[in-house]
Amino acid sequence: MDDNRYRPGRNHTSKTAPVVPPIYQTTTFELDDSSYEDIQGTGGLHATWYSRFNNPTVDAAAAEVARLHDARHSLMTSSGMAAIATTLLTLLRSGDVLLASRQVYGDTDDLLNRDLPRLGINVVRIDAFDVDAWTEAVEQHHPAVLYGETMSNPQLRLLDLPALSRLARSADARLVVDNTFATPYCARPLQLGADVVVESATKFLAGHSDVIAGAITTDDLELHEEIQRRLITLGGCLDPHAAFLAWRGMRTFGVRMAESCRAAAALAAMMADEVGVEHVRHPSRPDHPDAGPVVDVVMPGAKGAMVALVVEGGDERVLALLRGLRVAVEATSLGGVETLASVPFNSSHFNMTAEQRLESGIPPGLLRLSVGLEGEQALVEDLRQALASSVPA
Ligand SMILES: Cc1ncc(COP(=O)(O)O)c(C=O)c1O
Repeated sequence: MDDNRYRPGRNHTSKTAPVVPPIYQTTTFELDDSSYEDIQGTGGLHATWYSRFNNPTVDAAAAEVARLHDARHSLMTSSGMAAIATTLLTLLRSGDVLLASRQVYGDTDDLLNRDLPRLGINVVRIDAFDVDAWTEAVEQHHPAVLYGETMSNPQLRLLDLPALSRLARSADARLVVDNTFATPYCARPLQLGADVVVESATKFLAGHSDVIAGAITTDDLELHEEIQRRLITLGGCLDPHAAFLAWRGMRTFGVRMAESCRAAAALAAMMADEVGVEHVRHPSRPDHPDAGPVVDVVMPGAKGAMVALVVEGGDERVLALLRGLRVAVEATSLGGVETLASVPFNSSHFNMTAEQRLESGIPPGLLRLSVGLEGEQALVEDLRQALASSVPA
């Protein structure tokens, strides 16, 4: 990997080079003869001339994402959805088939079900965790792109990335993976054969619940430039101020993730035999459905900061539990320094029927936790008191 970390000495020549990237709060840059050469030579892709194309603060954030993935190229986008939409609209044309996991984030689901078909893209959905089903569907549909989430929401199941990348290669298709839940701290899909990684940087990457941003990462220069061209015309660029917040958040990414993943695994172990809890799901648990080769290869180290608990008494009880929490915050989203708790049936997966949720592995009573930095002891005590206060009278 190129060492593309932001370095004041490298990015500035003055003796007052700042240690952190300045916020280039400017839409446009003064031009000289060499700028025109850059613009004409690269179609503007590598020229610093207009902030929808390039901006040094945004570039510093993109370099940080690339570094975290040990990858060659990253682009920052205005949101995770902009990263996903821009990538898929680059790789797919009318008449192409997109073979996509059934278990994806709600707005991605809408993009796949509603928006892409309107453009003549044929979207075929598939159970993400059944490699035989992917194999059959690839033979039957000859897709241009395979799409899934490294770790699914909220089942916390893992894609068999080595198997899917072999399949994509054999079919001359591209493998695109949303790595938001897993994060590059736990999983680096490019190294397991994915072509492009898309992420909501809003979550663990930026890490402070204060900025909406996305990222697109690849080792393939041609693909990177094709996606960048589309990002320029579709307009999903990141604002420099937001890029600064994302950059700053990423400076503590490793230490935040180490602590949150450790606390998540400890919490999952402590809650596994708790009265009132039917089941605890975390990739560190021996009873995780992908325990063994898939977990060991896809998440070889830390196992992520998301935990799912299934509470006895279904959705009514889990709602009461949610209202009783005093440390964890009842809110959608994930990846902040504060622990966030939500229930899929009334937030991320409200648009599904109870049957559809069950089919996709979301039973009644499922509580999703994004573990922050409070420590497992405080969180377990909070969950215990909220469980106790949620027992129906
Ligand atoms: C897995 C996943 N992908 C993508 C997104 C979209 O990200 P953003 O809200 O930054 O557009 C989300 C948002 O929750 C998500 O959970």
